[in-house]
Amino acid sequence: MSNLEITGLSHAYGPKRVLNDVNLRVGAGQVVALVGPSGCGKSTLLRAILGTHPPTEGTVMVGDKLVDCPTRDVGIVYQHYSLYEFLTARQNVAFGLKLDQTSTPFRWFNPLAWRKLRRRHLEEADDFLAKVGLLPARDQYPSEMSGGMRQRVAIAQALIMKPRVLLLDEPFGALDEATREELQLMLLRLYAENVRAREENREPPYTVIIVTHELNEALFVSDRVIGLSQHHADGANGATIVYDRPAPVFKPEDPKDLTRFIAQKEELIGCVFSESQRRDHRDFITFWEEHDKAPAVAGAPM
Ligand SMILES: Nc1ncnc2c1ncn2[C@@H]1O[C@H](COP(=O)(O)OP(=O)(O)O)[C@@H](O)[C@H]1O
Ligand SMILES: [Mg+2]
Repeated sequence: MSNLEITGLSHAYGPKRVLNDVNLRVGAGQVVALVGPSGCGKSTLLRAILGTHPPTEGTVMVGDKLVDCPTRDVGIVYQHYSLYEFLTARQNVAFGLKLDQTSTPFRWFNPLAWRKLRRRHLEEADDFLAKVGLLPARDQYPSEMSGGMRQRVAIAQALIMKPRVLLLDEPFGALDEATREELQLMLLRLYAENVRAREENREPPYTVIIVTHELNEALFVSDRVIGLSQHHADGANGATIVYDRPAPVFKPEDPKDLTRFIAQKEELIGCVFSESQRRDHRDFITFWEEHDKAPAVAGAPM
């Protein structure tokens, strides 16, 4: 079973068709970068996966459930995520568990049980803050944090709910270059946990779709790149997936060797961003074909 399966998805805003016949299957543990021209419908696609704006046509399945409203199976982090300013980092991260697992009457009438559960939530929040490298800042308030720290808290806040799919919509777009690189490394460390889980025959814990307009970032942090675009033969009916190929996999300690990206970046620019392209949209949809042909190596996407 895939973590995410999109079938025949189209979306229109009134008479304007934005997405046309999007089909996509994402396996557990994949980190998928989603790129495409501005305004092509990337956020619209994420909102359909999130369940806040179901598609006009087609279906989104997460695990074995049809998505028609938001649930804890799908998490999202935006470019400008507002944390609760009156809560510390660890309280912010634990907040979703509190809402999910308790009610006000429960907390009022079972103070002892609630205190015990609360301690567990805060410990779990600490685990997730450690994963994003922020344990030392766990008692800080958002107003005391940099933009990069706030985004890390936002990501920990989403991860603690253990979503089957985590959506990141231009999550690092507002950060300076150095901070952005640190957060890219943080994603590679999460990916390394997936690799380890697979080696130990466990389900890889993080399945991520990250929208970014920075192609180096897309290729660096992901193991699969998808291009959404209206520049294809049937583009008048809306954007669809015109590119779907494996991306080079980096370990956190690997040097960020940009030369590994050059050819694929050119391919992406030509296929996804070039307005002169009017080819059949399936020419570069080869991810599963390439994946099934590849020798089984530790860390290969499944
Ligand atoms: N709520 C809306 N109502 C009408 N048009 C919208 C709405 N949201 C987005 N659009 C339009 O749909 C297209 C795709 O938007 P969006 O999904 O935000 O693109 P992207 O995230 O790729 O930049 C754009 O042309 C945008 O103007
Ligand atoms: Mg967008």
